[in-house]
Amino acid sequence: MSDAPLFEIEDLHARVEDTEILKGFDLRVGAGEVHALMGPNGSGKSTLATTLMGSPEYEITSGAIRFKGENITAWPTDVRAKAGLFLAFQYPQTVEGVSVINFMRQSLSARKGIDLSVLELRLSIMEWMDRLGMDPSFADRYLNEGFSGGEKKRNEILQMALLEPELAILDETDSGLDIDALRVVAHGIREVRESRPALGIVLITHYQRLLDEIEPDHVHIMIDGRIVQSGGTELAKTLEVDGYGAFK
Ligand SMILES: Nc1ncnc2c1ncn2[C@@H]1O[C@H](COP(=O)(O)OP(=O)(O)O)[C@@H](O)[C@H]1O
Ligand SMILES: [Mg+2]
Repeated sequence: MSDAPLFEIEDLHARVEDTEILKGFDLRVGAGEVHALMGPNGSGKSTLATTLMGSPEYEITSGAIRFKGENITAWPTDVRAKAGLFLAFQYPQTVEGVSVINFMRQSLSARKGIDLSVLELRLSIMEWMDRLGMDPSFADRYLNEGFSGGEKKRNEILQMALLEPELAILDETDSGLDIDALRVVAHGIREVRESRPALGIVLITHYQRLLDEIEPDHVHIMIDGRIVQSGGTELAKTLEVDGYGAFK
């Protein structure tokens, strides 16, 4: 299946209880491509991200999700993660008593099925923290406890760098990124892409500024559960001037 796209969503419908939220969502992401997904609040962006990771919160009623040609629609979350899908959560949870480094160790073992020694892990974490401009003491802090917006974002990018996914879904919408956090995300994505040019990225964002720095290959506008228009970065510029009204 070498000619299959990296990631493909076909006519996806999903609902929560009796309410349909995804209403025929289509997207194809090739290796190395960055796709920006934009849309007004409530259009279903986070529902899409969560559904793609296999959350039981949403019921898929029809359509398919394919990863490297394989139909993964019914795969559980852990299997998707192990296969190389990564979701950066919009509101990362605090995990009491678990340090950044220990959390990484567990996630890496789940993703790769190997247990790195504490020393090996510390070395690769330190290398990435340096590239991402993070203080070494960060590794020993408790996950998300008292993290600033920028630190949460650094932590997500650090996870993405170390877990080496093939497809990353980054849901940045509504999380109130300040300028520092935006720069962290932009710089982090650039660093990770430099090391892993085949990584596919779906970047869900409100921020034109972030798109200026990342320069996505494709921009999609999502309204009411599906993509209503796709284009290049000019689409995001139109949006900045005219708002979503033009697409409804
Ligand atoms: N678990 C849920 N229960 C009920 N309604 C939900 C749930 N998750 C999402 N929704 C509804 O689905 C719609 C899309 O939400 P969401 O995916 O968060 O949109 P976005 O991320 O684009 O702002 C909203 O109307 C929201 O209220
Ligand atoms: Mg959202």
